[in-house]
Amino acid sequence: LNNGLAQTPPMGWNSWNFFACNINETVIKETADALISTGLADLGYVYINIDDCWSSAKRNSEGQLVPDPKTFPSGIKSLADYVHRKGLKLGIYSDAGIFTCEVRPGSLFHEVDDANLFASWGVDYLKYDNCYNLGIEPKKRYPPMRDALNASGYTIFYSLCDWGVDDPALWAPKVGNSWRTTEDINDTWASMTTIADLNDKWAAYAGPGGWNDPDMLEVGNGGMSYQEYRAHFSIWALMKAPLLIGCDVRNMTAETFEILSNKEVIAVNQDPLGVQGRKVQVAGTDGCFQVWSGPLTGHQLVVALWNRCSKAATITAAWEVIGLESGTSVSVRDLWQHKEVAGDAASSFSSKVDPHDCHLYIFSPQAAYRSEI
Ligand code: GLA
Repeated sequence: LNNGLAQTPPMGWNSWNFFACNINETVIKETADALISTGLADLGYVYINIDDCWSSAKRNSEGQLVPDPKTFPSGIKSLADYVHRKGLKLGIYSDAGIFTCEVRPGSLFHEVDDANLFASWGVDYLKYDNCYNLGIEPKKRYPPMRDALNASGYTIFYSLCDWGVDDPALWAPKVGNSWRTTEDINDTWASMTTIADLNDKWAAYAGPGGWNDPDMLEVGNGGMSYQEYRAHFSIWALMKAPLLIGCDVRNMTAETFEILSNKEVIAVNQDPLGVQGRKVQVAGTDGCFQVWSGPLTGHQLVVALWNRCSKAATITAAWEVIGLESGTSVSVRDLWQHKEVAGDAASSFSSKVDPHDCHLYIFSPQAAYRSEI
């Protein structure tokens, strides 16, 4: 969507994956404080996004949405002011249907009123869900909110959450700044890998202004191993997915923080070229030895070696698979070990990868070979 936002994928936090409906203004404020005190905000995580359940069950007598007086007694404007004072941005949630998924009032047929209300509160980001949609096509239900947000006088990131229904990548680049390509993620290896594969299909449609959204991060929620979370974060970064933290950042382990704060991996996600990396090789038994890669600015490539089997394996990225001319000399930097690991490889690069782990590298072709990418 050409509203000036999302030149790189959005980064921040969202309440749903960890808190679901157990949210209140204290949690949101403490999360904002934690993003600042941990340094995550300085690394780019600036959106604090409130998901479903912030609203009362009914609109007021003027037909306006009302924050739940028990959990958000100070209102959303005061929360927006609070996070803005810290240099952060506030996101909110509604639904392109008559109810949200948790049966709060939806914004279908109330687009102009609700967009103006969000703008008056100083909301910076709207996630717009797909429940209770009366069977009307997404293509018809999502543009009215875009138009209402654009007319509100306030620049608001527009995140479509239509779960991939009717292949949003094909029409949503003109409607939103991101669009969900799949059903909801959950905190398991099976869900994360399935979603990565589904999102990969739409790589060609992502770019500055509009991104494929394979759903929010589960890193730190406890259902996957360190290696699996590292793979999750690596692949989401390479796929130019929104990096929306979904754990309780007030109580992160050192391992969770290490993953989410990896500057080199974040830089891959935020690379200004904005090209979604893809799965370029599926080899080995059950297709476990995978290579994912994509171009970055400065003639560089990001390359992931991802072991999706349950035994350690040596995975090889051959130059023809990642799009390098045979003989091209590259230097290789490992973004998890934070060091150069091999110079002057000339036709392939191999590494032993632990079960379910993912190594992430930047390949920099030496000057003489740079014109090729
Ligand atoms: C849907 C969305 C989720 C979350 C919930 C909230 O399932 O896809 O991301 O917003 O609704 O009810």
